Amino acid sequence: MTFAELANPGILTQPVYEPGKPIETVARELGLDPAGIIKLASNENPHGPSPKALAAAQRALQEAHLYPDGGYYALREKLAQKHGLGMNQFIIGDGSNELLELLGHAFLSPGKECVMHASAFVVYKLVALMFGAKPVEVPLGPGLKQDTSALLAAITPNTRLVFLASPANPTGVVNTAEEIAALIRALPPHVILVMDEAYIEFLENPPDLRPFIAEGRKVIGLRTFSKIYGLASLRVGYGYAAPELIAIVQRARQPFNVNAIASAAAVAALDDEEFVTRCRRENIAGLAQLASGFQALGLESVPGHGNFQLVKVGDGVAVFDALQRRGVITRPVKGYGLPEWLRVTVGTPAQNERLLAELKSALQR
Ligand SMILES: Cc1ncc(COP(=O)(O)O)c(C=O)c1O
Repeated sequence: MTFAELANPGILTQPVYEPGKPIETVARELGLDPAGIIKLASNENPHGPSPKALAAAQRALQEAHLYPDGGYYALREKLAQKHGLGMNQFIIGDGSNELLELLGHAFLSPGKECVMHASAFVVYKLVALMFGAKPVEVPLGPGLKQDTSALLAAITPNTRLVFLASPANPTGVVNTAEEIAALIRALPPHVILVMDEAYIEFLENPPDLRPFIAEGRKVIGLRTFSKIYGLASLRVGYGYAAPELIAIVQRARQPFNVNAIASAAAVAALDDEEFVTRCRRENIAGLAQLASGFQALGLESVPGHGNFQLVKVGDGVAVFDALQRRGVITRPVKGYGLPEWLRVTVGTPAQNERLLAELKSALQR
């Protein structure tokens, strides 16, 4: 018998997540000097990690021989203070990706359905398929806008999870607080809204899920330290919700799912308001720099609200290749059903300038 014949049903057809290419890989494959390559492909923070988080991680490394606190008391305590919620309302994940998977463990199985938008962050679909559930995709509206009433209309008695990100990846679009509130209020009692807030810290006036959680609505917010806090490599994120929901998801979590260096860095990052404020301000300036640069090149772009922007370049994969040969790594989004678009992460002002210059020359050829 082959390994493939022994494998669980569905595993061989499970789609594989394709991450942005690391600088070293591109350098090796294309014979380029890694020092001359910039990566604007994975919505990382171009300003590096929060300095307070870096110092805390270095201190925590001294105790690398000890297991982490598997309950992540210090991090949950800090989160509880920051958000004005109970410690029992938080779960810590190995990135928010792991929390998406833990929700699958807790609520999905064959016959169940998950509702999401077309072109939504691909991990929602991967998680649904992994647990044998059916991903139900509803189309985006004009301007790639997310239509929350279409999400509601796609709910059936088998639906368990609805996934919504705002700002969304890869489109960068947002839903208003009113749209999110109306969605939450209209959810039937057998459905949980998974509100993916990976990019929420980039918004100046973010919507607030806490009143809905307090009202007993079925919603969980997911956040990450990978984006504005600049800790993507450490892999740490969190979920917040009603204590009963958190207690169920906790049952699916491995005891030491996040390492102690990451959790110490996350605690310190939450205190680094100055870094977060600076990154938010610089990101807003960077979005404007990219938008006006795209406009000057005569290219349509989607007004992004995260730390990235979608730009319509014609053949997305061809332009991605041409940029990569010039040492600028971006992300084609053909796999998201958007073959004419490229997703570009906001870099430093100099990186944005370089991207715009290389894009101009790539398009002229
Ligand atoms: C919308 C969205 N959700 C979740 C994640 C996962 O982030 P992480 O697992 O690094 O916390 C990402 C990462 O790019 C994302 O774009």
